[in-house]
Amino acid sequence: MSDPAHSSGGVPGVSGGMIAAQHPTGPARLIAPELPADRPAGSTALRLYDVCGTGHAAAGEAAPAGAPRRFEIPEELLARVDEAIARYPSRMAAVLPALHLVQRTFGWVPVEAQEWVAERIGVPAAHVHGCVSFYTLFRTRPMGRHHLQVCRTLSCELRGSNEILAHLKTRLGIAEGQVTPDGRFSLVAVECLGSCGTAPTVQINDDYHENLTVEALDRVLEGLK
Ligand code: FES
Repeated sequence: MSDPAHSSGGVPGVSGGMIAAQHPTGPARLIAPELPADRPAGSTALRLYDVCGTGHAAAGEAAPAGAPRRFEIPEELLARVDEAIARYPSRMAAVLPALHLVQRTFGWVPVEAQEWVAERIGVPAAHVHGCVSFYTLFRTRPMGRHHLQVCRTLSCELRGSNEILAHLKTRLGIAEGQVTPDGRFSLVAVECLGSCGTAPTVQINDDYHENLTVEALDRVLEGLK
């Protein structure tokens, strides 16, 4: 199943004067040096620090040195976050849905987007940061197009997750927390994915792969472009 967070489409509602810095892991578009004057009404500009450390230099489209890094919250994201806020009796209940929407839009959750979520919902930024840092499913930096999360908790470990993790490191040539140079895969080890009865389990983007063997996982990876 494809992951909408990693679609190749651009960010809707953004036009003019931008550098389309298509990161290998997500569709976030950086704008430099300033936001276009004709940007859609209601869009919100945020400063984006170079937290991924790559300079977003994919396809030679890095922002000019020294240029402020900014991105806009697309209209569609704005509308969907507002919808989520309206759906709950307590505004705070919309924090997790809003963070999911941000991650599906950009492929990760930049700290500036966390602050935007806090402001939009009207909760302390510390609460939003706390959610993002607590749940490993939120990515605080860009990851691969196919994000592999290997469960390392007891049931999976007893059923071979260590072997699977070691195999992935060798096959992909990366350590835990890293992204392959082509941006295709990233790898992390996580705690229980809640699928202990079908251990060992690996989550790839939104999909669970269960009762895995090294051979079965290799077949899955070969089908991922
Ligand atoms: S221990 Fe791996 S899914 Fe629970």
